[in-house]
Amino acid sequence: MARTHGDSWDLASSVGATATLVATGRAIASTHPHGLINDPFAAPLVRAVGIEAFTNMVDGVLDLAALEAFAPDAAVRARANIDEMAVRTRFFDDYLLTATDGGIRQAVILASGLDSRAYRLPWPDGTVVYEIDQPDVIEFKTQTLAGLGAAPTAQRRTVAIDLREDWPAALQAAGFDPSRPTAWLAEGLLIYLPPEAQDKLFDNIHELSAPGSAVATEFVPGLKDFDADKAREAAAGFAQLGLNLDMPSLVYHGERHSAADYLAAKGWQTTGVGRSDLYAGYGLAAADLGGDDPMREIIYISGTLG
Ligand SMILES: C[S@@+](CC[C@H](N)C(=O)[O-])C[C@H]1O[C@@H](n2cnc3c(N)ncnc32)[C@H](O)[C@@H]1O
Repeated sequence: MARTHGDSWDLASSVGATATLVATGRAIASTHPHGLINDPFAAPLVRAVGIEAFTNMVDGVLDLAALEAFAPDAAVRARANIDEMAVRTRFFDDYLLTATDGGIRQAVILASGLDSRAYRLPWPDGTVVYEIDQPDVIEFKTQTLAGLGAAPTAQRRTVAIDLREDWPAALQAAGFDPSRPTAWLAEGLLIYLPPEAQDKLFDNIHELSAPGSAVATEFVPGLKDFDADKAREAAAGFAQLGLNLDMPSLVYHGERHSAADYLAAKGWQTTGVGRSDLYAGYGLAAADLGGDDPMREIIYISGTLG
């Protein structure tokens, strides 16, 4: 179903199911011998959501090689997505830990989905971690992790709101202090926002950022040439597995500002690392996804405000 201005979801539907998809990747990547990441909450969260195909992947009941029966390269792509979750998670983990090493004690995880960093990273004493996502998403993760007996490793404060609404007001009502430097994280989010909402997101981040703040996100330049039909073909395995997840209809394509340039124009010092360089930095090789796959090129961006 096409996106609409005020659409909403839980973790089993629409954009919410993409949070379960990436948590599935994190769960599987956490068992990989490369040891790049360890997210012990990803698998139980995926099981709790209850999308059968994802649960079966996490539990090893569904062999990824079987995906090959549905579309050429489907298994290669599935494995590539899992590797992507490993490097992406590690990159943003490292970013947040570097920020706290530098003295930042306030973090905001935008579109937090099933991200468990507030429960698994070694936050310094006194760190406050805000998580923003849609109400059903926030509520589900909070309740599920409480049910598992998990306790946050920082002061975790949730802000249950759509990021197209007045989230800065809601964030401040939850205790966020704009006079303190903040580490912002927008992981796996930009492609689900229309171009003008992406700009507004960074406008808001900039306005709420004291000097010394940091930001990290990832940007997919190839979305401007996105071919929905081809993407649907490549994801044919999803439908065959009974998954109601039509990625092409969830993503906003077309021209948009480069996140790094947009932030730089506001005075942020930004650095972008391309997908293959990021993999190489962690001792892995990025799978070749083919010249027309928008995900072949992802720029992992981090920046600071002087
Ligand atoms: C691919 S998931 C990424 C989740 C998490 N950042 C991660 O990497 O595990 C996309 C997330 O963006 C959230 N999201 C997308 N658009 C949103 C919006 N307009 N308001 C609030 N959350 C949004 C979804 O609810 C979902 O949790």
